[in-house]
Amino acid sequence: MIRWVRGVLYILAGLVGVVAVGLAVLYIWSEVRMNRSLDVEVAELSIEATDKQLERGEHVAAIRGCRDCHGPNLTGDVVLEDPMAGRISAPNLTPAEGTPVESYKPEDWLRAIRHGVSPEGRRLVFMPSYEYIDLGPRDLKALIAYLEQLKPVESDVPVMRVGPILRLNYLTGVYPLVAADVIDHSKPLEAAPEPGPTARYGQYLATGCVGCHGPNFSGGPIPGVPPSWPPASNLTPHQETGLGDWSRQQFMETLRTGTLPSGRQMNNRHMPWQTTAAMTDMELQALWRFLMSLPPRPQGNR
Ligand code: HEC
Ligand code: HEC
Repeated sequence: MIRWVRGVLYILAGLVGVVAVGLAVLYIWSEVRMNRSLDVEVAELSIEATDKQLERGEHVAAIRGCRDCHGPNLTGDVVLEDPMAGRISAPNLTPAEGTPVESYKPEDWLRAIRHGVSPEGRRLVFMPSYEYIDLGPRDLKALIAYLEQLKPVESDVPVMRVGPILRLNYLTGVYPLVAADVIDHSKPLEAAPEPGPTARYGQYLATGCVGCHGPNFSGGPIPGVPPSWPPASNLTPHQETGLGDWSRQQFMETLRTGTLPSGRQMNNRHMPWQTTAAMTDMELQALWRFLMSLPPRPQGNR
């Protein structure tokens, strides 16, 4: 009897050991990969900060999701907190003492936004620069002009702690936790399509939907988020599972109010409708045109 108990204890101790070693390898390996510094060549931009540019910049910050993560006033926020995913916090973007952007120059903004790299060459974690690499110079200039004139506001942002699930998804390539790893940094700065209610302009705006709805826009479970999240909806014109029987009016109302045609309110953390609510009619029409031009796909083909 005693020998049997001792055997079980040995096996349990062995399992605990294997898990501990596994976690240690996971943490060390992911730390090493995240901490490889990166020196990127940053394009030159002239920032004029005209009233028109500042107004445009404020709009770009609103519709490109900066406020979703960095907080409504851009003073920093906790984006995600979960025992397995960890705590993801986005820093204060006002030049208050001690913030990373305190002594930012225009090229530092461009490096962080477009390349996902800090001025010291650190790869930013969870900051979705792959959504911003294709921003046109007009939008980038306006955005940076706007960010540069923010007044310093002190805030307390809890430190970031990347949990085991995000690390595992990062190492296995399931989730692009570190945008700088997946971006083609040599991509030249190219003019954005002409603004208008066209599919082409809609595609330009829809880069911000890909992270959740997938590169094919057919939705499904979102990689890297806690399991309590609903799957992303199918945005292709698929009849049974997508937007096939939606009208443009329903689409625009849903993205303005976060309320689905069924009357159900979506959680802004899951589906950032406050970001789409900031879009103009023209921008929502462009998105609709673009989505309706896609081949219909059943839900879940990312
Ligand atoms: C999905 C969430 C998310 C969105 C959207 C987002 N950010 Fe971030 N951002 C982060 C996180 C998290 C960090 C912290 C990264 C780190 O410290 O490794 C960060 C870091 C930064 C930094 C700091 C770099 C440094 O030197 O440490 C800047 C600047 C920045 N973001 C600007 C922006 C701007 C501008 C936008 C909108 C165009 C934006 N972010 C959109 C999550 C986000
Ligand atoms: C952070 C992840 C995320 C981003 C970014 C995102 N979505 Fe969503 N979206 C979701 C999730 C999750 C749902 C389902 C929410 C629910 O069922 O409560 C959803 C639902 C929707 C719906 C409702 C459709 C239906 O049939 O349920 C529409 C329309 C939509 N998203 C459009 C967009 C567009 C357009 C963009 C880009 C401008 C976008 N979303 C960006 C996660 C996201």
